[in-house]
Formats: sequence, structure tokens, C-alpha cells
Amino acid sequence: MKFDVLTLFPEMFEPLKQSIIKRATEKQIIDINLINIRDFSEDKHNKVDDTPYGGGAGMLMKPDVVDRAYNSVKSKNAKVIYLTPQGKRLNQEKVKELSKEEHLILLCGHYEGIDQRVIDKIVDEEISIGDYVLTGGEIPAMVLIDSVSRYVEGVLSNESTDEESFANGLLEYPQYTRPEIFNNEKVPEVLISGHHENIKNWRREKALENTFRKRPELLENIALTDKEKSYIEKLKKEVQ
Ligand code: ADE
Repeated sequence: MKFDVLTLFPEMFEPLKQSIIKRATEKQIIDINLINIRDFSEDKHNKVDDTPYGGGAGMLMKPDVVDRAYNSVKSKNAKVIYLTPQGKRLNQEKVKELSKEEHLILLCGHYEGIDQRVIDKIVDEEISIGDYVLTGGEIPAMVLIDSVSRYVEGVLSNESTDEESFANGLLEYPQYTRPEIFNNEKVPEVLISGHHENIKNWRREKALENTFRKRPELLENIALTDKEKSYIEKLKKEVQ
């Protein structure tokens, strides 16, 4: 999968040169190409921004410069995403959907934003990573690349995404490793029993409990068995 990132700050993307994303890049499963928008300024001072018509705070990225940067990477099959707090909120479902694309072009705004005309011309979709405002789209672009790459075949083992939080609409169950006793607390007995069916049932129950306690609204969107529904009712009574 190819990511082309249009940004004024390519140096901000160092975190993607570590760990799992680094390995996926080395194995050429994903390709992250950083394009410095400033390289496409035709101004003798390399100007990339200007004041807004009508007045107001800050500077806006110039449409012609952004458009030339885009033209240097555009392709027929690419989807162009503009990272902006005005976009649709990124969630795991969207992440999975984007992982099926072959080429994403990520446009990062900085300063007060980008001239609307180039947004209208090139952008297919606007995405936000949450209801708060960051100094630019670079961190959101990294969040998107990291979360989407995890679903690209070969980046992780499949089991890693099968059981994690949100994969089945629930938060994940708690996990434990050695030592068996830590701080006078023993690992739950069932996990050392070797009884796979019991372990599976225990994990499902704990995932339900975790979700009920931390993100109860998620339970509204998933199908539960009658037994699971009465388990949730029992938890509700306990907190009353
Ligand atoms: N740019 C600035 N803030 C942002 C956010 N919350 N999501 C996406 N892009 C942004």
C-alpha cells in the first residue's frame, strides 16, 4: 500500500521510522513517501502561504502550490484525504475500509488552513482524528498511517487484529504474563488451566465487563446472546 503525504513538515514523520511501521516499510509492504509542499513554490522566497481575503487571523496555504505538489503524485486509483477537524471522525471501521485502498494521498494543512478552491478540486474525503484542534494535519496523518497499516496484509499476524479492542465491537479482555504472582496478585486461575473453551468464555465475559464499565455506549451496537444480555443486567444491578 502506498501513502503519499503532502506536508510542509516532512521532518515531523520520524516516528513512522520505528518499530512495526519501519519493518513494514523495509519489507516493502507499505511505502510512505513524504512530499514537501514547499518544493513546489515558484516564488523566489519559497512562499507557501498568504493572508486570508476578507481579513482574519493567521495565514493560509496557497492553492497553486498545494495543487502542484498534488500533481507530482496523483494517480487514477488514489484516494485523496485531507486531515482536518471538520472531517468525519476516524474509527476502527473507517481504518479497516481505508486499508483496502492501494494508494492514499494525505494532505496535511498547517497554519490556519488551506485555500478552499484546491480542497474542492483535489480532496475526496475529509477525516478528523477527534474533536480537538491540533497545529496541523501531520500528527493526524501519522495516526491514520499507523492505524491503517496494521490492517495491511503482512504487517501484523492476523490474530493480532482479530481479538483486539473494537475488532468485535467490544473492548479487549485483560491480559497477563509471567510472573504468576505479582504484588500478591495471582493470574486468574482459568488462564493457567489449559482449558481452551473456558478461557474463551472467560475472555468474552471480561470483554463484556470491560466494555460495560468503560464504554457502555458500545454495547448498543452489537448483537448479544440472551445469556450475555442477562450478564450485562447483572453488572448493571451491581453498580446501582
Ligand atoms: N488538523 C488539526 N486538527 C485536526 C484533527 N483533530 N483531526 C485531523 N486533522 C486536524
